[in-house]
Amino acid sequence: MLMSTLQIKDLHVSIEGKEILKGVNLTMNSGEVHAIMGPNGTGKSTLSSAVMGHPSYEVTSGEILLDGEDVLEMEVDERARAGLFLAMQYPSEVTGITNAEFIRSAINARREEGDELPIMKYLKQLDKTMAGLEMTEEMAERYVNEGFSGGEKKRNEILQMMMIKPKFAILDEIDSGLDIDALKIVSKGVNEMRGGEFGCMIITHYQRLLNYITPDHVHVMMNGKIALSGGPELAKRLEAEGYEGIRSELGIELDVKEEAND
Ligand SMILES: Nc1ncnc2c1ncn2[C@@H]1O[C@H](COP(=O)(O)OP(=O)(O)OP(=O)(O)O)[C@@H](O)[C@H]1O
Ligand SMILES: [Mg+2]
Repeated sequence: MLMSTLQIKDLHVSIEGKEILKGVNLTMNSGEVHAIMGPNGTGKSTLSSAVMGHPSYEVTSGEILLDGEDVLEMEVDERARAGLFLAMQYPSEVTGITNAEFIRSAINARREEGDELPIMKYLKQLDKTMAGLEMTEEMAERYVNEGFSGGEKKRNEILQMMMIKPKFAILDEIDSGLDIDALKIVSKGVNEMRGGEFGCMIITHYQRLLNYITPDHVHVMMNGKIALSGGPELAKRLEAEGYEGIRSELGIELDVKEEAND
C-alpha cells in the first residue's frame, strides 16, 4: 500500500499584494479525511488554489510538500500528475471538450506513455462510476460542465475524482447546491474512495455533509490561519454555537472583512 503525505508548512499567500493566508500548517496522510470550516472570506478557497498552483495566488513564504517533493516548484499540470486534485467551489465550463475525453486525458496524463488505459476498459469504468453517481449517460458526451446545473457540476467533480483516483483531493464546498438525495450520492462516492491510498480535504460550512462523511480531523480557519483543530465533535460544536464561541475562547478579533460578509 502506498502511503502518502501532504504537508503544508507555515504557508503565506497573497492576492494582489494583500496577504490572505498568514501561516497555515496542516499535515494530511492518505487514509484521512480532514474537514476545513471557517467563516466566509477566511482563505479556505485560497488555500485550495495555492495547493493547486493557481497563478493569481502568490506564495510569499512557507512550503507545500507531497511525499517530500516540493509542490511549489511544480506547474499546475505537474501537480495534477503528482496526484493532487481540486473540486472547485465554482467549477468552470470547458467548451469543445467532452466530459469523457477530458477525464480520459486526465487519467492518461498520470500514466506512463504506452501504458494508457485501454478505451473499452475506460468506458466500462466510466459507465459504472456514472451509474453509481446516478448520472445519465449523455452527460459523458456533453462539454465539461457546459449548461450543467449547479448540483450537476458538483456531481461531475466527484465523477472526475473517482475516475482520476488522485492521492489527495480537495473538495471545496462540494455540498453547496446539492439536493438531499444528491448529497447522499456524492457522499457515498467520497466514502467509496476512502482508504489507504486516498486522502481528502473537505471544505464545508455545514455539519450536515459531515453526517455522511465522518471526518478524522476538523480544522477551523479564521483570519488566514487554522485557529483550532479537533475531531468530528468540533463541527458539531460549531453547528450549535457558530464561530462566536471559538472567537472569544481564543481571543480572535472579528475581521472587518468577515463582518462585511456576515
Ligand atoms: N482575485 C482576488 N482579488 C482580490 N481579493 C481576493 C481575490 N481572491 C480572493 N480574494 C479575497 O481573499 C479572501 C479569501 O477568499 P477565499 O475565497 O479564500 O475565502 P473562503 O474562506 O473560501 O470564503 P467562502 O467561505 O466564502 O468560500 C476574501 O476576502 C476574498 O475577497
Ligand atoms: Mg471558498
